[in-house]
Amino acid sequence: MAESGEGNWTYADYLNLHRLLDLQGEERKINSDEMHFIIVHQTFELWFKQVIRELSEVRDILSQVPVPEDQIPRAVDHLGRTTEIFRLMANQWTVLETLTPQGFLAFRDGLGSASGFESFQMREFEFLLGLENEDRIGGVDPLDSFRRISDNEINNAILERLEMVAGMPSLYDSVMSWIERTPIMGSTYGGEDDVGIVNQYVSDHLAAHRKLCEEAAERSSGWGAGDSNKAAERMMASHEGAVSFLMPEGTVDRARAGLLFIESYRELPLLTWPRKLIDALVELEESMVKWRHAHARMVERIMGRRIGTGGSSGVDYLDSTSQYRIFKDLWGIRTVLVKPQRRPSLQNAEFYGYSSNS
Ligand code: HEM
Repeated sequence: MAESGEGNWTYADYLNLHRLLDLQGEERKINSDEMHFIIVHQTFELWFKQVIRELSEVRDILSQVPVPEDQIPRAVDHLGRTTEIFRLMANQWTVLETLTPQGFLAFRDGLGSASGFESFQMREFEFLLGLENEDRIGGVDPLDSFRRISDNEINNAILERLEMVAGMPSLYDSVMSWIERTPIMGSTYGGEDDVGIVNQYVSDHLAAHRKLCEEAAERSSGWGAGDSNKAAERMMASHEGAVSFLMPEGTVDRARAGLLFIESYRELPLLTWPRKLIDALVELEESMVKWRHAHARMVERIMGRRIGTGGSSGVDYLDSTSQYRIFKDLWGIRTVLVKPQRRPSLQNAEFYGYSSNS
């Protein structure tokens, strides 16, 4: 067989096709339904492998201090590819939906307790992204299951790898510590007057937010809330929510303030790449949520509300996982924005690439 660099490959050798096409379990005399079930799983796992590669690159770029600006477009590209992979995978469930409930039952017992639960690659990219154990259903540590089966060299190696990834700063941690260093109103992170400038900015923003909530409460008809008092209460509670989001425990969270600044002044030339990166992360998580949701619908169609082979409640469990949000602050900031006409006026516009205050 030709070696890499010899430039004399055959198509089959380059792609390792003979090995690849010998891995579908045909020696067990499986029927077409089961072969399709295996091939769909295998293609997902191949995509997971690529997802891990792409996301590791993003994490490595963003965990540098400072992040080299010329590498950010590459991080955005890796995220964009990952999103497309999830979109493709979300559509791929429809192939599985050609499996009838009876067709699945015919071979399901043969799976024993094998379940997607045990997809170590899925757990790896969840850790890599930053899904916290306390945010998982039942607050479980997925490593516990891998610890139970780490009785041979292969399983030990998987456990070690997962522990290593879980112990590293996640992509989300890296993004937030990068966002924390965003210059706000021209003030640099750690600068002499930074705390004062950032506090003033957040306080101005919250004043505008409060005013808008009061105006909305006055206009409120009560539709959807039962009566107008309840609607007004809800508006004011949403203001309290904005205060505790931006000032948890009474002090300004600089990372959230940075995020607020980037989202509020999206048009500033200097903020173009940070904004694109944030958009790419939100788009990625949205595509993952849709993928999880489509998995649950496929499962409901094929096996109804049966218990999963991994022992979970099945569809209910899968539906709950589509509530996971890893990039919580990137979602949370959307709730506390104000319309552009009411945002605090920009200071030091020239710093962000404009020649005069806008
Ligand atoms: C007929 C096809 C399928 C059925 C009926 C099905 C059913 C289920 C069920 C019931 C669960 C919950 C865990 C359990 O109790 O077992 C689950 C989890 C999972 N499945 Fe599937 N599945 C199917 C196909 C697939 C495919 C093709 C993949 C691709 C790799 C996949 C990946 C996963 C993953 C990663 C989980 C864990 C989700 C999590 O814990 O967040 N499943 N599946």
